[in-house]
Amino acid sequence: MKAIVPKLIEEYASAHTTSHSALLEELEEYTLSNCAHPQMLIGRLEGALLRMLVCISDARRILEVGLFTGYSALTMAEMLPHNGELISCEMNTESAQIAQSFFDRSPYGHKISVRLGSALDTIKTLDPKTPFDLVFIDADKENYSAYYEATLPLLNTGGLMLADNTLWSGNVLKPQAQSDRALVAFNDRVQHDDRVENVLLTVRDGLTLIRKK
Ligand SMILES: C[S@@+](CC[C@H](N)C(=O)[O-])C[C@H]1O[C@@H](n2cnc3c(N)ncnc32)[C@H](O)[C@@H]1O
Repeated sequence: MKAIVPKLIEEYASAHTTSHSALLEELEEYTLSNCAHPQMLIGRLEGALLRMLVCISDARRILEVGLFTGYSALTMAEMLPHNGELISCEMNTESAQIAQSFFDRSPYGHKISVRLGSALDTIKTLDPKTPFDLVFIDADKENYSAYYEATLPLLNTGGLMLADNTLWSGNVLKPQAQSDRALVAFNDRVQHDDRVENVLLTVRDGLTLIRKK
């Protein structure tokens, strides 16, 4: 991932942001030392933003698409009320096992339920009668538009959808790879959708906030 925000600015912003828990620190260190593609983890600055959004939106039910080793799920679960719930979709068994081992050690881990398998298949099994307050999309970029269409009906009116990596290292300006083109198509779809209000934040690799009207 090519940094969009200058490194020193990113570090300064991190240093002036509420720190994460000791367990999240451990999870981040474990992922950096032991897992392939550790840059997939959202990190402490974007994590703190997600925590803030969970709080100010008063979210109780969250759907996550893309668990990896569990950093974003755990940071959001820490801010949910005691009876809150976060369902996270992941297709990689090994990543899910690492994530679960950290959730088992957290007083907030009981709120998280991991669904193994293709996220689109998992989403089809979710009951629209129990909608979500917040959806976080952070899996394969080629399916972002499909995740958007599949999860928008599951979101409460006024609910918030967050989509990560929407600037994709700046590649959206000059799309070449399939993932670049998929993100351009996703960003255009959201921008022209009357069902939502949206803002693309230049945080880390781009984070789009989408509110269902
Ligand atoms: C960017 S990582 C998620 C990072 C995580 N949100 C965090 O901040 O720690 C994307 C994850 O999505 C998973 N993934 C990719 N395609 C998927 C699919 N079709 N269904 C379910 N999970 C998928 C990958 O295995 C990977 O662990």
